[in-house]
Amino acid sequence: MNDVLPDEIAQWHHVERLFAETARCYGFREVRTPYVEPTGLFVRAVGEATDIVEKEMYSFAHHDESLTLRPEGTAGVARAYVEHRVHTREPVSKWYYVGPMFRAERPQRGRYRQFSQLGCEIYGDPGPGCDAELIDMLVGFFGALKIPDVRVLVNSIGGAEARARYREGLVAFLEPRREELSAESQRRLGSNPLRILDSKNEGDKAIVSEAPGLEKYLSDEDRAHFDGLLRALTALGTPYTVDPRLVRGLDYYTRTLFEIKGASEKLGAGDTLVGGGRYDNMIEELGGPKVPAVGFAAGVERLIIAGEPAAAGAGADAYISPLGAGSVDQALVLGRDLRREGIATEVDTRGGSLKSQLRRANALGSKVALILGENEIASGTVQVKDLLAHTQDSIARDNVVRIVADRLMSRSQ
Ligand code: HAM
Repeated sequence: MNDVLPDEIAQWHHVERLFAETARCYGFREVRTPYVEPTGLFVRAVGEATDIVEKEMYSFAHHDESLTLRPEGTAGVARAYVEHRVHTREPVSKWYYVGPMFRAERPQRGRYRQFSQLGCEIYGDPGPGCDAELIDMLVGFFGALKIPDVRVLVNSIGGAEARARYREGLVAFLEPRREELSAESQRRLGSNPLRILDSKNEGDKAIVSEAPGLEKYLSDEDRAHFDGLLRALTALGTPYTVDPRLVRGLDYYTRTLFEIKGASEKLGAGDTLVGGGRYDNMIEELGGPKVPAVGFAAGVERLIIAGEPAAAGAGADAYISPLGAGSVDQALVLGRDLRREGIATEVDTRGGSLKSQLRRANALGSKVALILGENEIASGTVQVKDLLAHTQDSIARDNVVRIVADRLMSRSQ
């Protein structure tokens, strides 16, 4: 779990603001749901035989209730959609969220136990057009974040029937090779064989590379849906690769699956920036009506590692240096007057030498220092030192706020 110190916060604000702005342009509205949900929600929605539910949830009991720190956002947001009967008010809902998620994983670069996801979910649109639009939105967003070498992988896992048939086909292929599989995959053969396709074990990978792909198990409708997605991506000019062995670690997906990867030199093993897909059965399974859904989530820490650093915000544009204890009160008043004009201002109340005060002014990136000593107070003036042009002049106290505001304004133009 990480601390984000003030030096790093500009990166976070940059990513979060750009995402909120992008999502708004695409018609999404923000939703905020609790960090804690009943454990049963994740067991039902994410799936009992997934890594998340089997070993990564932070769960605790309170009285007779088992609660879990949310390991992902989709289940809680879908619960809120069902609970508030949102389908009765609008045929299509487009929601986005940003916030912390919790998984007890082995930490490494880009993989943490508390991490932040930004995500979008669309309810009520069954067609592949909105799947393509989500992917295209992400590619545009990553362009704005200046994330290089972005690769989009897509696949279709079909509906429940295709998945069941594929599961049988995969087990029939893997069963004769059972002894060659890792212990974990042998176990999965009984519980969740699709997850074997995602194994990191080299021996498993070699076997899996010869396994049948999902494609031939798709129904005609699944196939048409997937073709529609690929056609829309082509029309949008969004580069993609079909990866027939792409499966995802959560059980709720139907039809469209996608991942977006970044440069592995920067990200190491955690090079998956985004995971997403369609989950047309979840709303009904959570007790709602039959409403199709599609969405994605991206790891904010990973986007920060992969993107170009954002400029850190300036500490204070104006810096007030009172000289002598008698000028501090007047410095506080001047500071407040400047801030009322929207000027970020730091008043040095430490009482050090002018030299040490100006050193701190420079460190904060200040553009002007306002020096206020006993002489200035007596004569109703302020010394205004331009820290960039290295000039200094004496200005009447009554005019100083307006003049400093004008100077800073002309600087920023
Ligand atoms: P996910 O693939 O489990 O999908 O996570 C999505 C993204 O969250 C990953 O691609 C990664 O960037 C980030 N992430 C996951 N685990 C960690 C971690 N331990 N540390 C840092 N970053 C991490 C979901 O969570 C689905 N809810 C996505 C979705 C939304 N599908 C449909 N709608």
